[in-house]
Amino acid sequence: MRRVRILVFVGVCALLVTGCGAANSIVNPKGSEAKSIAGIWWVAFGLATFVYVVVSGLIIYAITRGHRKGARTSGLRENSFIWVGGVIVPVLILAVIAVLTVQTTASLRAASPDELHIDVTGKLWWWGVRYPASGIVTANELHLPAGQPVDIHLTSDNVVHSFWVPQLAGKEDVIPGQPNDLRFTAKTVGTYIGECAEFCGLQHAHMGFRVVVQTPADFGRWVARRQIAPSEPVSDEAAKGATIFDAQACAGCHTIRGTSANGKVGPDLTDFGSRPTIGAGALENNQQNLEKWIRDAPAIKPGTAMPSFRSLSEGDIAAITAYLESLK
Ligand code: CUA
Repeated sequence: MRRVRILVFVGVCALLVTGCGAANSIVNPKGSEAKSIAGIWWVAFGLATFVYVVVSGLIIYAITRGHRKGARTSGLRENSFIWVGGVIVPVLILAVIAVLTVQTTASLRAASPDELHIDVTGKLWWWGVRYPASGIVTANELHLPAGQPVDIHLTSDNVVHSFWVPQLAGKEDVIPGQPNDLRFTAKTVGTYIGECAEFCGLQHAHMGFRVVVQTPADFGRWVARRQIAPSEPVSDEAAKGATIFDAQACAGCHTIRGTSANGKVGPDLTDFGSRPTIGAGALENNQQNLEKWIRDAPAIKPGTAMPSFRSLSEGDIAAITAYLESLK
């Protein structure tokens, strides 16, 4: 029985340790700010491990040495043990962590003159993304050039959310009426997973986003591509979908640049076909899932502002799907 327990304990520890190297972890940083946060994490982990080992050792020692009858203890030694172990060492450890934390936190906020500004708005439950300099508007996906400092300007018009990309920066609250700025520099090209890290209602778990870090040249190409409005639908089906999209409620809630659809309730769909997920991570973006989503979004993401369109015919839903998937 005891052996089984030990094996389970070792197994759990191994899982925890391997989890540390995984993607989307703060101890696998890919940016300068994330690196300094990971540094503090390791110092705190090291100190905590030291305390754990020393205290466990003392407990084991106290248990195993047993009662020694008649053994006299020296009051002086007990006193100094309490002073050193109970006061001086904890104060030193906490002081080290406090100084490091304050120092790092202060350095995280520094603005830089060449930073790229991006406005991010927390919605129920998705992320609005806007690049003020180029006028690009998208949703649930940020593109960043590697090596350039960014300033993510965070606002909300509903409840409190929290913007968190563990591999790139710390968490920053997204508060109605209190804009916050999160500054960081992504160093390594790749796609990073972001989460809402503050409970914000029914679909808090489906408020994911992605940060795509590109080489500056690739980022430039992405900006140039995104500044061009989508071309006219090429297939007949997509053209039919565009007409239905405009005639139905869709255009009242969503914007598609270059068309008369200019709703502001739901995400901008100008580049919808290039996004990997539907509904801020609720579904993978493919034709089948998009049809399901249009037919009955509230069944997939209860609480979403997107209504169900069960009254539309299968053919109409397929046409809208073809149109939206063509927007790249
Ligand atoms: Cu938004 Cu949790």
